[in-house]
Amino acid sequence: MADLQALREEAESAIASASSAGELEELRVRYLGRKSLLTQTLRGIGELPAEERGPVGKTANAVRVALEELLGRRTEELEAGELDAKLAQDRIDVTLPGHPPSPAGHLHLVTHTRREMEDIFIGLGFNVVEGPEVEFDHYNFTTLNIPPNHPARALQDTFYLSPDVVLRTHTSPMQTRSMEIQPPPIYIVVPGRVYRRDSDASHTPMFHQLEGLAVDEDITLADLRGILLEFARAMFGAEREVRLRSGYFPFTEPSVEVDISCFNCGGSGYLRDGSRDSLCKGSGWIEILGSGMVDPNVYGFVSDMGYDAERVSGFAFGMGIDRIAMLKYGVPDLRMMFENDMRFLEQF
Ligand code: DAH
Repeated sequence: MADLQALREEAESAIASASSAGELEELRVRYLGRKSLLTQTLRGIGELPAEERGPVGKTANAVRVALEELLGRRTEELEAGELDAKLAQDRIDVTLPGHPPSPAGHLHLVTHTRREMEDIFIGLGFNVVEGPEVEFDHYNFTTLNIPPNHPARALQDTFYLSPDVVLRTHTSPMQTRSMEIQPPPIYIVVPGRVYRRDSDASHTPMFHQLEGLAVDEDITLADLRGILLEFARAMFGAEREVRLRSGYFPFTEPSVEVDISCFNCGGSGYLRDGSRDSLCKGSGWIEILGSGMVDPNVYGFVSDMGYDAERVSGFAFGMGIDRIAMLKYGVPDLRMMFENDMRFLEQF
């Protein structure tokens, strides 16, 4: 009985001064484990004289219960303390983003759209080329079958830098520039900035176009239609259709205006709730570009390079990159593209 009492005191003070959950576990094995004095005592009770069995058993059990309870309580306390210490120590979480967080900027909507368009045409076998924004009148107009004093020049309000140098009004001058340095066949698209004296909700003095030019043997209007159908579907959805209407451009003959079936109403002109679709104005079609078969007069400026209207034929097209972005992303006013208002830019 005295041994048990001493054991209890020893164990209690050891448990009280243990400083880690691991140490407590060792103490549990030492005082309550299979080989511990307490367990041995309880097992050996049968060998004691009969009158001692009761009191010794009772005391030994009481010691066991007391020690178990104390161990449980201390383990809880120590574990809580260890967690607190760990949290305090790990207060700097190296997995958190740096401070201040670095701004994760993204491409401007126009750049994003331009690249998307380039990718589609690259996939169709076209090369991407770029040209000067400050351009000779010669390329901007003359080689596109718009000679000096031709009334067609009035169609485009032009910024003149000198009598024969302009800010290009379209990307079409790259047609001649490209054919001057590359014989047929040629398959190119030309993205870039263009400039016109114009400003309202759908016109800005600077905007973006993507020109296309394909010249080879036996190119027909059907090839143009096929390419533009592929483009329309890649850009606006697999169900799109294209429609060619006759139009006029000095550098193509015949010339066509190209519409795609409206992706907002599915081409019906009406929305699901029965109201008229304002995007296509109820027509079911949206105009996206001008194009046509390259006019033989244009080849006349590059005949040296083997462009002979008797031997080759080709198509050209030009479309507004910003306009495609406005349609696709529902931007109501072209000017928003260039105001650099973060509230606008961050939406895309
Ligand atoms: N350059 C024309 C414009 O800016 C667009 C255009 C129309 C380009 C027909 C073409 C074309 O290549 O064939 O309005």
